[in-house]
Amino acid sequence: MGELALAARSLDDNRSNPMDESRQAHQAPKPGGEKTVWWQRGVIYQIYPRSFQDSNGDGVGDLRGIVDRLDYLAWLGIDAIWISPIFSSPMADFGYDISDYRNIDPRFGTLEDFDRLLIEAHRRGMRVLLDLVPNHTSDRHPWFLEARSSRDNPMRDFYIWRDPGPDGGPPNNWQSEFGGDAWEWDERTGQYYYHAFLKEQPDLNWRNPRVRNEMYDVLRFWLNRGVDGFRVDVMWHLIKDAEFRDNPPNPDWTDGMPPHKRVLPIYSCDQPEVHEVVSEMRAVLEEYGDDRLLIGEIYLPLARLVAYYGRDLRGAHLPFNFHLIQAQWDARHIERQILEYEAALPEGGWPNWVLGNHDKPRIAARVGREQARVAAVMLLTLRGTPTIYYGDEIAMTDVSIPPEQVQDPFELRVPGQGFGRDPQRTPLQWDGSAKAGFTTGSPWLPIAPDVAEYNVEAERSDPSSMLTLYRRLLALRRKSKALTIGRYATVEAAGSLLAYLRETEEERLLVVLNLGPEPADLVLPGPCRIVLSTAGEGEEERIEGTLRLKGNEAVLAEMAG
Ligand code: NOJ
Repeated sequence: MGELALAARSLDDNRSNPMDESRQAHQAPKPGGEKTVWWQRGVIYQIYPRSFQDSNGDGVGDLRGIVDRLDYLAWLGIDAIWISPIFSSPMADFGYDISDYRNIDPRFGTLEDFDRLLIEAHRRGMRVLLDLVPNHTSDRHPWFLEARSSRDNPMRDFYIWRDPGPDGGPPNNWQSEFGGDAWEWDERTGQYYYHAFLKEQPDLNWRNPRVRNEMYDVLRFWLNRGVDGFRVDVMWHLIKDAEFRDNPPNPDWTDGMPPHKRVLPIYSCDQPEVHEVVSEMRAVLEEYGDDRLLIGEIYLPLARLVAYYGRDLRGAHLPFNFHLIQAQWDARHIERQILEYEAALPEGGWPNWVLGNHDKPRIAARVGREQARVAAVMLLTLRGTPTIYYGDEIAMTDVSIPPEQVQDPFELRVPGQGFGRDPQRTPLQWDGSAKAGFTTGSPWLPIAPDVAEYNVEAERSDPSSMLTLYRRLLALRRKSKALTIGRYATVEAAGSLLAYLRETEEERLLVVLNLGPEPADLVLPGPCRIVLSTAGEGEEERIEGTLRLKGNEAVLAEMAG
């Protein structure tokens, strides 16, 4: 470990901020319980590094750029950053195709820049989470170059090789998530290899113990440098059916759905043995104490999702909950989802909520900017750890990308059907100038056309902006035990209203969300005082009886007594 890295860790160990008060040994998270860990109380912010801040004028964001903006994140009030992949990569899938797990891609900087980032983040009381991509490597990774060099190469079994099927074609009907067969013919060695994503992203064979050990050493490499945890890419993909059976057809598939959804991935994903792998990853984190966080990216129905907490909570601390991303924006529907999720959590399993990420249209694009304010209140007041997607805090919306500027391989392979992910990955708008304060060069994706209105600089000083709303909510969360670790209880509401309480013995907060554009009334469960309204009205007022909300309004109120 270099000097800087040692400094990063020692700073981490000696940080005197409120997060450190509870480094409990193997403390299982208890809902509403006394002892909590930093990631239960904290808020995570996802940085898509290509689009956060460019420091060298090449039009692509980088690590020094992130360091330059840490004060903004501290000012905003977030507790941890998760940075999408920054490792060496040919960028076929913008970093989700890694050719060296132990190095930083030169487009993003150097290992020294990374160590500096860790120090500077930790100095500000912020944790740093990396994006681990263990399911597949780049086809330029030395392991794959070895593996494909001959059938008897010792690394052959690091990947998934199969002979052709009986008809001479691919071994089975598994589909790539980016369109087409998931099998690529390798002329030289006369076998197919499996790739759940691009052919430039061959899947590793996680049934091979050598692969596991190599990857666990990668985890240790970064943990030794001082990182605070990982978001694990496509965790549910890691193990595939040992017999490689065909996936069954999806009876619900219709035109307009991504092509790979023609079959149900029951054999290519979510196999029982995956839980052993996840608990092994967790054990590696625990070699470093009890405060490193393991998050899993998992798109599965509820019952299957919560299995990733693992037996006796020995799996992921936070299997990402994408219900709000996938939800129909309807009060009763979301209420049902919240209750079902709460009910499905294993005892001691800590909830989490995500509104957006680099793979899905932004919340403002999905529900509109007015409703996105309501969604922000929901995200930051539901029980569990929230993850904010960069730019949502200034109400960024999807940017339409002209065909000649498309970058995303999904859009390039399956064009014109709305699957492209560039629209939600455009540069963060720091100011109202043409290049948004993001770069001095030519930005890799276009800047949003509404940059003059929606940017950090303009919104910072506007009391009615989305940024002010996020900052206020984050400040309220930080000082309220009810909001961070309190219980959740539904309050009866009808029509477009969704209402709930967050409560501890000392504090009861009422959240009322109007998911529709028309005014609506809630019969209050008792007298209360309004603490925050997205419409900016009635704050500090005491009310009893009925609370009238404007269309698209959200209110946070403190219950009396
Ligand atoms: C999930 C990531 O979030 C996505 O961006 C990526 O394309 C795939 N995994 C493949 O790594």
